[in-house]
Amino acid sequence: MTYKIVVLPGDGIGPEITQAALDVLEAASSGVFDYELQYEAVGGDGIDQVGDPCPAATIKACSGADAILLGAIGGPKWEEAEKTPEDGLLELRENLGLYANLRPTKVNNSLLDLSPLKKEIAEGTDFMMVRELIGGLYFGRPKYYDDKEAFDTMYYSRENIERIVKTAFDLAASRRKKLTSVDKANVLANSRLWRKIVEEISEDYPEVEVDHLYVDAASMKIITHPTQFDVIVTENLFGDILSDEASVITGSLGMLPSASLSENGPSLYEPIHGSAPDIAGQDKANPMSMIFSVTMMLRMSFEQDALADKIEAACSQVMESGLVTGDLGGRAATSEFVQAVIEAL
Ligand code: NAD
Ligand code: IPM
Ligand code: MN
Repeated sequence: MTYKIVVLPGDGIGPEITQAALDVLEAASSGVFDYELQYEAVGGDGIDQVGDPCPAATIKACSGADAILLGAIGGPKWEEAEKTPEDGLLELRENLGLYANLRPTKVNNSLLDLSPLKKEIAEGTDFMMVRELIGGLYFGRPKYYDDKEAFDTMYYSRENIERIVKTAFDLAASRRKKLTSVDKANVLANSRLWRKIVEEISEDYPEVEVDHLYVDAASMKIITHPTQFDVIVTENLFGDILSDEASVITGSLGMLPSASLSENGPSLYEPIHGSAPDIAGQDKANPMSMIFSVTMMLRMSFEQDALADKIEAACSQVMESGLVTGDLGGRAATSEFVQAVIEAL
């Protein structure tokens, strides 16, 4: 069986880390896992190629894929575009129905030195943030601004909250059975409904321990007591912000992958970070976020756990030897790191 993977390299460091991760996949998978790649444009790349950050051909190709890999989008070049790369990414997520964005923060205990946190705080961290991805302030209408005022609308339907909350409960039930729901129920109407629904659904999952945190306190606890968390479920914007914060526990934003799931279409895998224009084109980017996105894909879309384990073991070995990129305090170039991983394989 040859699987079809649609690849959307995007902008900035997106193409660099995508190529790096695909080189590692190719070296690791020969004779074990058979796939073909189809490249499509998204973001600024889509604007440059066909005048649209979310081309119809890209959506069509993604819909027919077994899995999708996306690098990163955005950059100063397209900030004033009528439809920006970010608009394109949101359109892609919405069109593919990618409602659940899973962002794991897992500390490798043999790489604790990479974390800016004290060892005893970071050690054993292993939680999954479940971020709702196609609702909330990102998508609510009206949304506009002029010189005098600005509107964003925070909207969630009961169905959309139930869907993401159930996904998070299912995940917690398969892990350490602890779910933390993060909201701002002391202020926001959306959060009041969210909290009510979490309470209702918790009755179907008696084995899962549930607690609720306000987002401000959650942002503090994630960094002071990261090992207290197993699964965190939250709405779109809170999840965006908290996951970048969580990445710091591992040592860098350049370490975190994600998986975006729909109800019955293909899943999309992408780093949580952006196109890093400050280091793009310099062979400096940390490709681990993309390599981990590939191993998430291998596990979740293709049940290739052994292959994913093998790739991750090779990466750990290289990082443990001290060969890491600049964001982790090292001096390795992207290409040098990838070469070492391929040799370790
Ligand atoms: P960013 O995530 O691109 O970068 C933030 C900082 O982290 C930068 O200093 C960058 O150099 C560093 N960084 C990020 N990934 C790294 C990696 N793999 N290796 C080493 N260092 C890394 O965020 P930003 O600078 O605020 O945004 C830049 C552009 O990316 C914007 O256009 C933004 O809209 C877009 N963006 C896209 C996505 C996405 O594609 N999903 C996510 C976030 C931001
Ligand atoms: C992310 C990014 C996007 C988001 C932007 C670029 C639209 O920050 O994937 O985390 O906010 O979802
Ligand atoms: Mn983000």
